[in-house]
Amino acid sequence: MPAQSRTRKLPSLSVLQDMHNGEFEEVIFAQERRSGLKAIICIHSTKLGPAHGGIRRIAYKSESEALADVMRLGRAMSRKTALAGIPAGGGKAVIIDHPGLKRKAAYEALGRAIEQLGGRFYTGPDVGTTESDLAAVRSQTRFVVERQSGSGPGDIAEATARGVIAGIKATLTFLYSDPSPAGRSFAIQGLGAIGGRVAEWLWRGDAHLTVTEIDASKLRKWRGKPDVAVVLPKRILEVPCDILSPCALGGIIASSTRLKCRAIIGAANNPLASESVADVLNRRGILLAPDFVVNAGGVIEGAGRHLGFADQTTQKIDGIAETLMSIYRRARRIGASPYDVALSMADARLR
Ligand code: NAI
Repeated sequence: MPAQSRTRKLPSLSVLQDMHNGEFEEVIFAQERRSGLKAIICIHSTKLGPAHGGIRRIAYKSESEALADVMRLGRAMSRKTALAGIPAGGGKAVIIDHPGLKRKAAYEALGRAIEQLGGRFYTGPDVGTTESDLAAVRSQTRFVVERQSGSGPGDIAEATARGVIAGIKATLTFLYSDPSPAGRSFAIQGLGAIGGRVAEWLWRGDAHLTVTEIDASKLRKWRGKPDVAVVLPKRILEVPCDILSPCALGGIIASSTRLKCRAIIGAANNPLASESVADVLNRRGILLAPDFVVNAGGVIEGAGRHLGFADQTTQKIDGIAETLMSIYRRARRIGASPYDVALSMADARLR
């Protein structure tokens, strides 16, 4: 056989360079023919403690899309844990969903891969991963966050919502020297586990609410309530208000979005279409609370259970307010966006 037909062209390999650029410790590829598992685990940093990150299952269009997502999310988790002041690092796992995937067996196979990491990576839920998927993972590895705890807010979503509320109080204090939501106007996108809780707290605190949801069953209880307006999903970002709270999806705010709020603070991961939007918002005088500071309550709660600080989780979650306030003050002092200030604070801690 001529040499030429035996030599296949090698794929271009930029993974190692990307890992080097972003200071990633490990990227692990896992596949299993029997279950159809195709997964990537990324351990961004264990400098401050074992990496933590949920499992996302999406029908990615390509392996490179999955790789980019897992690396982006893993690094964001490191920044989140660094600024939360907990002895944990950041990572993430993704499963590439496809019609042939045998779901339970695939999650079990991923569990075995996580077990082999020996505790350098702890996992939990994320988009596409339910509690029963996690039960399959848990059947194969010790390194999954527990469902319940006896202390702290208990439930992960409850913990995240508590952190968002702490952040809202800090934002109101920064803007108006008063943490109370009474009489202030809020626009909330998404009334799920977090948005629903935040809306409830604001409503009880006499705030004026404008809400939206794509799931009609979650809107029912809000229709007709005093001081609550329901709008179509496409209108929510342009509602005039004091605070816009994105609690649904990421990537929703672009430079061209016609925002009419004074501040943005919510649970959604990566609400900006791109990082450069943070500067645009800063120039327009819109205060953006960095998502990875605000939505850290869940990982604080989860990590506290197995890293031995369960008795301090409530205090650490409430500490999000103080962290955010110091970021806002520093940003004002140096004229940078709170987003950039938070990024450099987190990266400094990771170094
Ligand atoms: P969830 O799935 O319970 O709620 C999200 C809600 O948004 C759903 O009810 C959904 O119907 C709605 N929604 C989706 N697209 C929408 C649209 N275009 N307009 C209006 N509503 C829309 O999720 P959860 O747990 O409340 O999380 C909210 C966000 O916070 C997500 O982005 C999540 O990744 C992020 N997050 C959640 C954490 C947690 O502990 N649950 C931790 C950190 C971040």
